[in-house]
Amino acid sequence: MTATASAPQPEGGGADPSVPRHVAIIMDGNGRWAKKRGLPRAAGHKAGAESVRKVLKAAGESGVQCLTLYAFSSENWRRPETEINDLMGLLRFYLKAELSALHKQGVRIKIIGDYKVFPADIVKMLEEAMALTAANSRLTLAVALNYGSRAEMTRVVRTLADRIAKGEVAADAVDEAAIDRELYTADLPPLDLLIRTSGECRLSNFLLWQAAYAEMLFVDTLWPDFDGDAFRAAISDFARRERRYGGL
Ligand code: FPP
Repeated sequence: MTATASAPQPEGGGADPSVPRHVAIIMDGNGRWAKKRGLPRAAGHKAGAESVRKVLKAAGESGVQCLTLYAFSSENWRRPETEINDLMGLLRFYLKAELSALHKQGVRIKIIGDYKVFPADIVKMLEEAMALTAANSRLTLAVALNYGSRAEMTRVVRTLADRIAKGEVAADAVDEAAIDRELYTADLPPLDLLIRTSGECRLSNFLLWQAAYAEMLFVDTLWPDFDGDAFRAAISDFARRERRYGGL
């Protein structure tokens, strides 16, 4: 049997298999964290952005190769305009404030999702951040912005259908690897661990294809309370899991 790009890779290319290569996080609970304190929801998102900083540092120190964060889903446009504006403001602020430090730390920034619909100044900042950090290799920070997994897969189907119609690809040559190559995550390691905070146990249209063999961890902690220690605890939990990939 030939291996496909999406086939599980238990050996991890010689890396320590007890450390997940790729961790994705659904950062949930900012609103409830703020409400508990009688604060506006924006204060929860601001505190959540601080958690991003702490978790990114812990991920780099743990030897994780890629951290993917669900920052803004394609469904988040349904939120009140004021909250959307607050999130855009935070994104602007952190891109400006953190970019050079991230670059110095060897972080490669990647955006997954249809980010081009964001305000033009943010699109420009995101593209500059990706270009500046493109050659960095210590850790990839993939930020999901206007991301939805079904939209991602629909986009792949359209791309492949178009190539088939043009005669560039034969329909029976479309295998799992061919689909993998068209996903936003094509150049990222296989997803090993998916964490969701705040006690909700669902995937909410996040990395559905990529999560096929990922370990899932649902924690009750609200995202603004999730820090470096919480991340390290998640990594230790992963190290105790037995991954069988359908085998015995
Ligand atoms: C979910 O909490 C969180 C979000 C929708 C946004 C996550 C954003 C950050 C962590 C800030 C950094 C991101 C950017 C874009 C700079 P929720 O609001 O759904 O919380 P709730 O379920 O308690 O209401």
